[in-house]
Amino acid sequence: MSVVTTQMHGDIAVVTIDNPPVNAASQAVRQGLMNALMATEKSKPAAVVLTCAGRTFVAGADIREFDKPFLEPGLPELLNAIESATRPWIAAIHGTALGGGCELALACSHRIGAATAKIGLPEVNLGLIPGAGGTVRLPRLIDPIDAARLAITGKPIGAREATKLGLFDAIAEGDLLEAAVELAKDAADKPMRAPLLTRAAPEVDQATWDAAISKLTAKARGQNSPHEAAAAVRDALDHDGPAALKLERERFMRLKGSPQSAALRYIFFAERTVGKSPRTKGVAPRPLAQIGIIGGGTMGAGIAAAALLSGLKVQMIERNQDAANAGAARVEGILGGSLKRGLITEAKHDALHANFEAASDYAELGEADLVIEAVFEDMDVKKEVFAALEAACKPEAVLATNTSYLDINEIAASVKDPSRVVGLHFFSPAHIMKLLEIVVPEALADDVLATAIQFAKIVRKLPVLAGVCDGFIANRIMSSYRREADYLLEDGALPYEVDAAMRNFGMPMGIFEMQDLAGLDIGWAARKRRAATRPASERYVDIPDRICKQGNFGRKTGRGWYLYDDGKPTRDPEVEALIISESARKGITRKKFTEEELMARILGCMQNEGAAILSEGIAASREDIDVTMVNAFGFPRWKGGPMFMKGA
Ligand code: 3HC
Ligand code: NAI
Repeated sequence: MSVVTTQMHGDIAVVTIDNPPVNAASQAVRQGLMNALMATEKSKPAAVVLTCAGRTFVAGADIREFDKPFLEPGLPELLNAIESATRPWIAAIHGTALGGGCELALACSHRIGAATAKIGLPEVNLGLIPGAGGTVRLPRLIDPIDAARLAITGKPIGAREATKLGLFDAIAEGDLLEAAVELAKDAADKPMRAPLLTRAAPEVDQATWDAAISKLTAKARGQNSPHEAAAAVRDALDHDGPAALKLERERFMRLKGSPQSAALRYIFFAERTVGKSPRTKGVAPRPLAQIGIIGGGTMGAGIAAAALLSGLKVQMIERNQDAANAGAARVEGILGGSLKRGLITEAKHDALHANFEAASDYAELGEADLVIEAVFEDMDVKKEVFAALEAACKPEAVLATNTSYLDINEIAASVKDPSRVVGLHFFSPAHIMKLLEIVVPEALADDVLATAIQFAKIVRKLPVLAGVCDGFIANRIMSSYRREADYLLEDGALPYEVDAAMRNFGMPMGIFEMQDLAGLDIGWAARKRRAATRPASERYVDIPDRICKQGNFGRKTGRGWYLYDDGKPTRDPEVEALIISESARKGITRKKFTEEELMARILGCMQNEGAAILSEGIAASREDIDVTMVNAFGFPRWKGGPMFMKGA
């Protein structure tokens, strides 16, 4: 059966696209639409409603076709033909009309959305710009600066905003198709609207435009596509429709072949590939309704908030009632913040509170389906907690640890049934960061793994599976390049130089700034723990330990790698003198590094550690490592990840 079918509703033709999962505008869809257009141009219904089956309107061009030979008909030609139709076309939008889907809707004469519909131009996220008239038609329909915002930021907007901007003609309060048919009947009785492509572009004062664009592109850092999107919308204002369309297409084709787009497309699919395991195929997860959380500190509170915001019930356990109250206050701090920012309503906020309890008695955990431990990073404390959990929880409850570095096989072995113990390693702040490392110990049961993956989906996290080792994927690679950064200090660099090199490469911050933010005491504790097993032959840099010994732990103490007199980092002459004296003490002649040299050492280290992680089976694929680096540490998406860059 064709992926595009047409049915008559009275004298209105309803054209339906049915191309699961997201109705991408593949060749079959384009051809089907072209056929439907030719047929309706011949049969002349009063008007045409264009709708989609399944969960969404067209979510874009079919990205999987981008690396294959081009097949007629092209999307731009199809959309020009639809826009030139002699009958009104009404796009009936539910789900997400994105990229080519938004452009298809723009080629229609009218647009009506379900109240929950979203529409946008996210091509920049794939290193592209709209390639089928999005930058040309949109500024001829809505305020050009709003059009530029959609194309530059890639952020979709909801139905209400779309209606306010004039992008939607109406919102369907009841059944979308019925409302679209009514709109079609109304449109059929009125004169045809002029196609957007034939309309004159509105004028925008250059100074207003420049100010808006510089604000909108400010966050692009090293990524090209937002700047290209801005230039494409500007072209659309400076040229007539057909000429602008040609320029847009040329720009789109050039970007499609660019390294940034290749990297962004790779990471798009990588994020959808990770978190799957052949072990869980056909394996049902255990029920997940009631979650226990042990420890209400930074991580416990963040995890509790993430679970509550996803509709789960949460029982928090702390060491005593005072600590439980403090944990509950931390959770309220996060939920209250969501309320203040308008992310949840007052009613939802109150409902979340009703789903939350904090206490000190493990007996409260009798009904918990999954318990996540987030207590101090100390093996003895963790084992005590797991013994208490074993006594308090039902036997089928999954027991998880949020440990950053500790041996989860050892934790699992401390309980009678190690098959129920898994690592759920969140990143701080846990209610915001998307990544969740699911750490798989040797004895883990398949259905417990399936439950962990299911939990990640429920709390809307991006799960990456990792094996047990010191630091799993993320922290093991980070420890390794942090060590390399320390070597660079002894070899001749200063912290601000390494940090600048990392920022200019595209990381959100450098490794030294990051440590100051997280607290230098965390790494210090880990180094002390490893001191006994560290090979005597291993190069060891004493500088960070010496900073910690002075009680300087970073931002929280006002001093670390940098000084924070007014909250902003400034170079610390004492730290720099210490670094230089340490090079001298070790007999190292300091060398001046270029940014490229500094980054080559840091990146090379990430790649070598990544290769070791792959060869040891800690990560199953390079995608696991790249998705981790992008989502844990802000490795620039437009570079794909260290392993993608290596071509491994
Ligand atoms: N082309 C091909 N496959 C796509 C696709 C697309 N545009 N969008 C999503 N898919 C696939 C995914 O790879 C995934 O496949 P899998 O099941 O085999 O892993 C499946 O559809 C479901 O996707 P998600 O898991 O992401 O489902 P969600 O429900 O979480 O999200 C979505 C749905 C919001 C549509 C999200 O998939 C998305 O953002 N997609 C990309 C949208 C986009 O970037 N569109 C622009 C494309 S470029 C373009 O249109 C150029 C034009 O201007 C010419
Ligand atoms: P934290 O010090 O902020 O919180 C720990 C909490 O555990 C405290 O509130 C403490 O009272 C409570 N606690 C200690 N023993 C307990 C017990 N026996 N029963 C109940 N509660 C107990 O620590 P944080 O930062 O939240 O870390 C917790 C765990 O998460 C550690 O294993 C850490 O390595 C890991 N982690 C930390 C990250 C971070 O960025 N802070 C990131 C990822 C993991």
